[in-house]
Parts: sequence; C-alpha cells; structure tokens
Amino acid sequence: MAKAKIKFADVNVTVTVPVGTRIIEISEKVGSYIAYNCREGDCGSCMFTVTEGYDNLSRPSEYEKATLLEGYRDIIEGWRNAPNLESLEAALVRDNLVGRKCRLACQTQVYGDAVVAPLGS
Ligand code: FES
Repeated sequence: MAKAKIKFADVNVTVTVPVGTRIIEISEKVGSYIAYNCREGDCGSCMFTVTEGYDNLSRPSEYEKATLLEGYRDIIEGWRNAPNLESLEAALVRDNLVGRKCRLACQTQVYGDAVVAPLGS
C-alpha cells in the first residue's frame, strides 16, 4: 500500500500514513490542535492550513468549498470590531481563497507528502 508523510507543524510531528487517510484521522492521534465537530464537512470547525504539498491532497468538493466559504464569513464577522478590519479581510482572502491553502480536515485525504497546521497558527 502506498504511503505518504504528513507533518503537523503546530506539534512538530511527522507521521507516515496510507494514501487515502483523512487529515482528521491523523491530527487527533498526534495531538495537533486542528479542531473538529461534525466530521461531515458541515460545521467548518476543522479548517486547517496547508503549508506545503497542497497538490498532494484530495481536491476539495463543491460541498467542502461551500463550507469553507461560510467559515470565512464567520471569521470575518468575528472581526467586525477589529480596528484594521479592511486589512484583515484582505489578508484572509489573499492567504486562503486566492492562495488555496485552507481545507477541511474531515474532508481532505492524503495522496502525498504535505505539511499542515491549525488555522491561524
Ligand atoms: S468537523 Fe465539521 S466540517 Fe469538518
């Protein structure tokens, strides 16, 4: 069975897993601070950042993309009182939507080596 290496940057742990393993299955075991709730791609709480190897992960489904977009809206709403809201929104869009770095751990399968971290770490 093919294997891939995933590094969880927040806890500095690298593990070798079978191709097709979901990020959420690994993050729990290594103690990463990637959060989760529904495990079905609905709540958006498992958003994480891909630092390296984005193309070595499964492609996001339309359902995952919709949940990610709703997650971005929630984060921006939480920043409504931030003094520099405009620049925060620009940074969020640049780093996640445009850079395509953000995924849902419960929906993302590993196909090759990558480095991941909790959102905002
Ligand atoms: S745990 Fe709810 S979307 Fe992943």
